[in-house]
Amino acid sequence: MPPLPEKTALVTGAASGIGAAVVALLCAQGVGEFVLVDLDEAALDALDLPVPARRFAGDVADPALWDAIESACPRLDLAVLNAGIAQAAPIVDLDFAQWRRVLATNLDGMMLSLRCAMRAMSARGGSVVMTASVSGIKAEPGTAAYGASKAGVIQLAKVAAKEGAPLGIRVNAVAPGGVDTPIWDAVPMFRDLAAEHGSREAAIAAMGKLATPLGRYARADEVAAQIAFLLSDAAATITGAVLVADGGYSL
Ligand code: NAI
Repeated sequence: MPPLPEKTALVTGAASGIGAAVVALLCAQGVGEFVLVDLDEAALDALDLPVPARRFAGDVADPALWDAIESACPRLDLAVLNAGIAQAAPIVDLDFAQWRRVLATNLDGMMLSLRCAMRAMSARGGSVVMTASVSGIKAEPGTAAYGASKAGVIQLAKVAAKEGAPLGIRVNAVAPGGVDTPIWDAVPMFRDLAAEHGSREAAIAAMGKLATPLGRYARADEVAAQIAFLLSDAAATITGAVLVADGGYSL
């Protein structure tokens, strides 16, 4: 692998939360160039970066977006496939359109971005990290769509690791437990909890104490550092791994 200043890094879901923290960390590590993808065009444009970045505003589940990225960015060295949405409903109340929306973003989008990354790495090798979730490992009521999508991401990463190995491409997944990011703000249960506790910070703290042995949720920069480790040559012999980073929640 070339040194970081010569590397091009793809990050999806780059405009917020874990993705934005990964972008900030890779900047600090001196990455050469970015290819950034997010649905939120204004937030993507607002990222103030010290290195060149090609920004693609669009839906990761849209094959046309990936056709455009593939022709504009024939070479990638690093990829953090991270865009995702949350959703919660018991199966008996699950609306099929909601199910499709979650599976489309979290799994179809992951396959399309993975395919693009592996094609763009096939000549020189590379390193991919996919953001799964502990919900893809541990069953909880209400997580059917989200958990199924993330279980799919974990298996996708393992298959990709086997296919990528002969090409010098490592593929790993990170499976965080709760992380304090804006993803929670769209979850009705969380909004109720924030109202009950008086602030979103208090609600995050309360959720962290509930079932996580370490007693708190992670920060986005902590997950970014775990992703950066898997991306880096320090993890050169690691592929097909799922780094469960959940404060002990799944134990
Ligand atoms: P976030 O909501 O802060 O960031 C997600 C980003 O993805 C946003 O900028 C959003 O605009 C973008 N995005 C959403 N749908 C998209 C689409 N169809 N196409 C392109 N971009 C899209 O959330 P967070 O927490 O940073 O999430 C990142 C990843 O981490 C997700 O895959 C999520 O499932 C996963 N995760 C998050 C956890 C948490 O507690 N925050 C726990 C475990 C996993």
